[in-house]
Amino acid sequence: MSDKPIAEVLNRRRFLGAAGLAGAGAMLPQLAQAEAPKPDPLITEVQDWSRYLGEGVDKRPYGMPSKYEKHIVRRDVSWLTASPESSVNFTPLHEIDGIITPSGLCFERHHGGVAEINPADHRLMINGLVDKPLVFTMDDIKRMPRVNRVYFLECAANSGMEWRGAQLNGCQFTHGMIHNVMYTGVPLKVLLNEAGLKPNVKWLMLEGADAAGMNRSLPIEKALDDVLIAFAMNGEALRPENGYPLRAVIPGWQGNLWVKWLRRIEAGDQPWQTREETSKYTDLMADGRSRKYTFVMDAKSVVTNPSPQAPLKFKGRNVLTGIAWSGRGTVKRVDVSLDGGRNWQTARLDGPVLDKSIVRFYVDFDWNGQELMIQSRAIDETGYVQPSKDELRKVRGVNSIYHNNGIQTWLVRPDGEAENVEIG
Ligand code: MTE
Repeated sequence: MSDKPIAEVLNRRRFLGAAGLAGAGAMLPQLAQAEAPKPDPLITEVQDWSRYLGEGVDKRPYGMPSKYEKHIVRRDVSWLTASPESSVNFTPLHEIDGIITPSGLCFERHHGGVAEINPADHRLMINGLVDKPLVFTMDDIKRMPRVNRVYFLECAANSGMEWRGAQLNGCQFTHGMIHNVMYTGVPLKVLLNEAGLKPNVKWLMLEGADAAGMNRSLPIEKALDDVLIAFAMNGEALRPENGYPLRAVIPGWQGNLWVKWLRRIEAGDQPWQTREETSKYTDLMADGRSRKYTFVMDAKSVVTNPSPQAPLKFKGRNVLTGIAWSGRGTVKRVDVSLDGGRNWQTARLDGPVLDKSIVRFYVDFDWNGQELMIQSRAIDETGYVQPSKDELRKVRGVNSIYHNNGIQTWLVRPDGEAENVEIG
């Protein structure tokens, strides 16, 4: 920051004109030479919003973002899937900050479209190897002891298009199958205790009420550890697209297990070998064999700004930011490189650093217009270091779709535009 008193800085800026205000530092010397100072009408004229009364409190019973933020939306990639009902859209990571994803921007992934369920008609059944099969209404669930937790949900297919090289130009598309929200819900172990598990229970099967009837097998150790049955996100009811009125929250594990519109939990002594854990969500290795039940999402990070959808606009002072996460606990450190991994600096983490949650990192830096190769690398509390894409391919080959947590590189050109690239 300048040492000059604020009044003096403001006075100087007032004579710069609109472009000077928008362009701040970098444009300052050229402008001073090219044009005589012009008064800025945004300062000298009374604007409409100051002249006329605004809308009253009765106009927005449920608030929406400003009309000037209209471009900030989830987006899909039309060629990726055959139909929008069994598809995915992506969180605009380059347009959000902090650690919480606004509910309306959380990416959606569903296999049979959004189930629209009246909560009065919703039931959750617990059956199978239990002492007492039970059926809960939403009212029953809301009378059980509840907790609040912030967790990331990452689809196992996030960055799945990047296995064979740089594909999609924007962190929304390369990394946007993730969101991070605060859930309110009942620990699954509380519900299971009510039903009473038989001693030989090893697995549960979670089933959704959507047209896909999506179901997955979950090991009992995880179910009794930190799994929640959630009815709220970010303080309000789950959104329909995210599982209203009830979903499973499986912290740190791949998003496919987080069954939405949850209607049944069956207890058993072995996995169900469902479609989603045999033909899908398995990792095809170089030798043609498949890894199954790879639940945990390993540590990963991405620089969200600058990135292809968010180029650098100004020389001089800039803020680089991004997100990091780990399915094994907290993120301990994030390193950032501006020269393709030759030199690394430790980024500043800001905001809460929570278990199995996104953390926000920043590097405040000066840009002179030189070419940059921006990378970030997450290190979690277990000491696990996010691998380069080449290191990952050495172990996994290139046949995989899922679990790509390789280091992302953005090339920033002298004009500030950024591009998805790979360093060999
Ligand atoms: N649950 C049901 N019932 N049906 C689905 O299609 N999709 C799964 C999971 N739960 C799905 C589901 C997948 S693949 C993912 S990645 C997450 O939900 C996505 O959750 P979101 O839509 O809240 O982002």
